[in-house]
Amino acid sequence: MGDEAKAKVLVFSFPIQGHINPLLQFSKRLISKNVTVTFLTTSSTHNNIIRRAISGGATALPLSFVPLDDGFEEGHPSTDSSPEYFAKFQENVSRSLSQLISSMEPKPNAVVYDSCTPWVLNVCREHPGVAAASFFTQCSTVNAIYVHSLRGAFKEFQDDVVLPAMPPLKGSDLPVFLYDNNLCRPLFELLSSQFENVDHIDFFLVNSFDELEVEVLEWMKKQWPVKNIGPMIPSMYLDKRLAGDKDYGLSLSSAQNECLDWLDSKPHGSVIYVSFGSIAVLKDTQMIEVAAGLKQTGHNFLWVVRETETKKLPSNYIEELGEKGLIVKWSPQLKVLAHKSIGCFMTHCGWNSTLEALSLGVALIGMPAYSDQPTNAKFIEDVWKVGVRVKADKDGFVTKEEVVRCVGEVMEEMSEKGKEIRKNALRLMEFAKEALSEGGNSDNNIDEFVAEIAK
Ligand code: UDX
Repeated sequence: MGDEAKAKVLVFSFPIQGHINPLLQFSKRLISKNVTVTFLTTSSTHNNIIRRAISGGATALPLSFVPLDDGFEEGHPSTDSSPEYFAKFQENVSRSLSQLISSMEPKPNAVVYDSCTPWVLNVCREHPGVAAASFFTQCSTVNAIYVHSLRGAFKEFQDDVVLPAMPPLKGSDLPVFLYDNNLCRPLFELLSSQFENVDHIDFFLVNSFDELEVEVLEWMKKQWPVKNIGPMIPSMYLDKRLAGDKDYGLSLSSAQNECLDWLDSKPHGSVIYVSFGSIAVLKDTQMIEVAAGLKQTGHNFLWVVRETETKKLPSNYIEELGEKGLIVKWSPQLKVLAHKSIGCFMTHCGWNSTLEALSLGVALIGMPAYSDQPTNAKFIEDVWKVGVRVKADKDGFVTKEEVVRCVGEVMEEMSEKGKEIRKNALRLMEFAKEALSEGGNSDNNIDEFVAEIAK
């Protein structure tokens, strides 16, 4: 890093794991390009985030953590999706952010903010010279589908959807809130709001890489100057240019690292890793069915069952698994995915988990839960062809036989489909690495972003 910083940036993430990870990673990339970064937390999450950042190593980064007043008591869950929460959060964070910018001298060159908080643009506009960079934690395909939906290209509950630059989609491939927008009205409104003022933002940053979504990206670029800056996963797994960058460094749950010893004891490519991310909740009956299916495959498996989900496991399940299966409450996911014993990843297809698997060349079994996940699953199976997707019945239920079928397709060494999937996964892994290597598309886009805000 040179002596004098090129620019000063504030970074604001919605305080949930799937958004903190990519925005923190982007902060590290900016720092590596000689930008000074302040990572903004909220008053109700600040202490927890700092505690987590200390144990995860993020406080060792040359960035500061500054809280904004969000108007809630410490510990208020940031997964609250009530309209009252969102309204109060917006009002307080807007005021507090504006005060922070006013108190800064010199002013920051830009605020990089979570696209789910589009109102940060208004705060930036109160301070001439502060650029507004909206950071999308979902892929361009999902963004484009939202845009088409807002422009009236398809209706709620429409089953066959044909949109430019993408394959024909079924209702079950759409982001769930666009198929049934009453499912969780406040979340539908929050996610739709990401696009309400995109005509006016200064930067449209997306956590994706060009080769992944060539046609959709081209279409999006005709609407806005979209810049892909991903995949935002630690450098160690990609270009290795950021010394010591092995972890995100800020995990809101404590990982059970002992699962790595268990993986060490298993043969190469023999383990199914199963995780449904930080938010998804399975119905009791679905949990029992997945448990039965995994056991029936006869393969080794490592399954992340969050504390709040554990009670849904069948009784004696853990004891009966013996050495075949290990259940943890939270895993060091990147280390797990990079482990030689992993044969495939059964995932809810959250965008971070998807990008992590793509970057590490791991074959996937998609079992999407909500939000953008069905669309990611559709692309995993039919476009990138790096995995299979479970077929659910009309009530969304996935049987144990279906779990066994999907595992067989991906894990079976000799199956043509399995071979094809593994070949495609390795091909995309190379593109992911290239994107953030010196001169790669995403790396160039980050350079351009820094140069433009520093003007
Ligand atoms: C959410 C949404 O659900 C997702 O669809 C959206 O694209 C981003 O925000 P989440 O459901 O938590 O996130 O899933 P995901 O995007 O996959 O993020 C989870 C993160 O937690 C990943 O970075 C993953 O590595 C990490 N993780 C997960 C762990 O470190 N350990 C675990 O045991 C499970």
